[in-house]
Amino acid sequence: MDRDWRRYSLATRAVRAGQYQDVSDQHSEPLVLTSSYVFSDAEDAAEKFAGRRPGNVYVRFTNPTVRAFEQRVAAMEGTGDAVATSSGMACYMTVALALLHPGDHVILAEGMFGTTSRLFNTYLRNFGVAATFINVNAGRDEWISLVQSNTKLIVVESPTNPMMQVADIRDLSSIARENGILLVVDNTLCTPVYQRPHELGANLIVHSAGKYIDGQGRCGGGIIAGREGLVAQLRDVLRTVGPSLSPYNAWLFLKSLETLPIRMQEHTRNASTLAGWLMRHPAVDKIYYTGVRDHPQSELIASQQSGHGGLLSFRIRGGRREAWRFLDALKLISNTTNIRDTKTMITHPATTTHGRLSAAERGSAGVSDNLLRISIGFEDPDDLVLDLEQAFQAAMKRSA
Ligand SMILES: Cc1ncc(COP(=O)(O)O)c(C=O)c1O
Repeated sequence: MDRDWRRYSLATRAVRAGQYQDVSDQHSEPLVLTSSYVFSDAEDAAEKFAGRRPGNVYVRFTNPTVRAFEQRVAAMEGTGDAVATSSGMACYMTVALALLHPGDHVILAEGMFGTTSRLFNTYLRNFGVAATFINVNAGRDEWISLVQSNTKLIVVESPTNPMMQVADIRDLSSIARENGILLVVDNTLCTPVYQRPHELGANLIVHSAGKYIDGQGRCGGGIIAGREGLVAQLRDVLRTVGPSLSPYNAWLFLKSLETLPIRMQEHTRNASTLAGWLMRHPAVDKIYYTGVRDHPQSELIASQQSGHGGLLSFRIRGGRREAWRFLDALKLISNTTNIRDTKTMITHPATTTHGRLSAAERGSAGVSDNLLRISIGFEDPDDLVLDLEQAFQAAMKRSA
C-alpha cells in the first residue's frame, strides 16, 4: 500500500489511509477485539515490550484497529503521527502530563469549551501549573505580553464553542515558535476537512472524536495529531496512565472518517440555510456562525478555513426565561448537549456546558442567559424552520 498520503487529496485519505487486513484478506477494516497478543517466543515478547520491535503488546497501548484510526487521522491532518484517547478531555490531560511540570505556565483562549477551561483553571492549577486566559482575537502584542519564561503551551480552539470566534493560527504559531512554546489547536469544530492547523504551524491538534468524526452520536473518544517525536511522548503517558480508546469506538470512528468530507458539506449547507433564516427572524438578537458574511473575522476565516460545519449560536430576545421556554416548546429538535450529529440538537450553554464556570467566567466567554447553541443535522431544513418558528412563537407569546 502507498504510504505517502501527501500525494492524495483529503477525500482519498479519508477512505484509504490506515487501511489494513488481517488473515482473512477482508476489504473493510476489521474490528480487532483482544486485550492481549501472542508472542512467537520469549525474545519476541522482550523486544516488543521494550519497543525495539514493532508489534502489538497489550490493549492499553496497542491495538490494530486503534492504530488504523490514528494513521487515518494523521494522514488527514497532515502530521507524522497521532495517538487516540478515551475522550477529548483525555487528550488535554495526556498533553498536560507529557509536557507540563509544576511551575509551568499556559496561555489559553477565553471561551474554550467549558470543561477545558475548568481543567486548566482547577485541577492543573492545583498541581502548580498557572493558566492565563486571553480573548482569542486579541492583537499580537497582547498575546506576546502574556508570554513568560515558564510558558510552555498556547492552547486555543478555533472556532470557539459556542461563540464561534476564530484564532489566527498562523500568527499564534509564529509567536509560539519565536518563544520556544508549543501551540495546541482544538480542531473539533472544523475537522481536517475544513482546517488543517499543522499546515498553519500548530504543533498538536486535538479532537473530541465523538463529534463530527463519529458524526452519528454513538460514542466518545479523542485523538491528538502531531509530529512523530512529540506523539511518542504522549503515547508513553497513555501507556502509563491508561486513558486509551476502546477498539470498538476506534472502529466506528475509522469507518465514519470515510464519509466525513461528504457529511461536512451537508452540515454546512443546512446550517447556512438556517443561519440566514435566523438572522432575519425578529425574535433573534444576534447570531454567531463563521459562515455569515458579516462575521467580524471573515477575512481570517477565509484564509484558514475552507468551510464552516453545522454549529451556530444565537441570542434570543429576552433572557433565560425566553431561552428556556423556547427550548421547552421544540417538538423535533433535541434538547441535548452533544454536538455534530445527524440529528439537530440544541442546548442552553449557560446552564449546561458552561454551568460550572463562575458568572464572571461565563461573562468573559460571552455565554449570556439568552444564548442558545444549535448543532444542525441532516433533517430537511424546512422541517427545522417549522419547529423553530413554532418555538419562537411560544416563547415570545408568553413573554409578551
Ligand atoms: C471543542 C471541544 N473540545 C473538547 C471537548 C471535550 O471532549 P469530550 O467530551 O470528548 O471529552 C468538547 C466537548 O464537547 C468540545 O466541544
